[in-house]
Amino acid sequence: MDASESTTENTADSAQQFWERHYRSTRDRSTRVNPVLAETAAPLIPGTALDLGCGAGGDALWLARRGWQVTAVDISGTAVERLREHARDLGVAERITAEQHDLAAGFPAGRFDLVSAQYFHTPFPLLRTHVLRAAALALRPGGLLLIVDHGSTAPWSWNQDPDVHPPTPEEIATDLGLDPTRWPVLRAETPHRRATGPSGETATVVDNVLLIQSTAGLLRPAPGTE
Ligand SMILES: C[S@@+](CC[C@H](N)C(=O)[O-])C[C@H]1O[C@@H](n2cnc3c(N)ncnc32)[C@H](O)[C@@H]1O
Repeated sequence: MDASESTTENTADSAQQFWERHYRSTRDRSTRVNPVLAETAAPLIPGTALDLGCGAGGDALWLARRGWQVTAVDISGTAVERLREHARDLGVAERITAEQHDLAAGFPAGRFDLVSAQYFHTPFPLLRTHVLRAAALALRPGGLLLIVDHGSTAPWSWNQDPDVHPPTPEEIATDLGLDPTRWPVLRAETPHRRATGPSGETATVVDNVLLIQSTAGLLRPAPGTE
């Protein structure tokens, strides 16, 4: 169990209410793509993607506009409905399946070429490692799992708790416990970037980036031919 998990008693209802309140009250209705996702997916041939905790859907919309077939899930019905509306407005509704889904209760069906978990943080109990392991297992051969967490707290973040120390990319990889010969780590880094908040303010923030590939099922060279 990692630092982001808890066994404290709580209910799915309160998690849902918290995120509903967040999306109903948020002024940020932008559909910006997260930079590490854009950088990672831009060179890829579009396939099937799963966006875990998609929020208002900037990443799902960006992927769909580039030809990906996207499943986007979030516990907040408001966030999901906002994404559906944007998808209709942008003419990519047929490329996005947006579903209200509590990932604490189960993992979406399907196999994916890309699974993205961007800032998949919540103040409520969630076996995050369990969800991210399920994500690795849902990858098609050659598929990528991209996990990007906050490595620092932006001034506009909903979470200003000084006692929260997000796990490093290496700690997340260790917690996942995946066989590195079948799910090699392609990237484990903590890049800095200049970020813009909902009211246009800016700050330097750190991202914790972990990129894992599923090589399970890929053909390997016969011994002695490498
Ligand atoms: C910090 S936000 C990140 C949103 C989005 N990925 C982004 O980069 O802006 C975390 C997201 O996870 C969602 N979430 C939290 N707990 C969840 C759960 N149990 N199942 C599905 N989504 C959840 C929240 O509703 C929220 O949209």
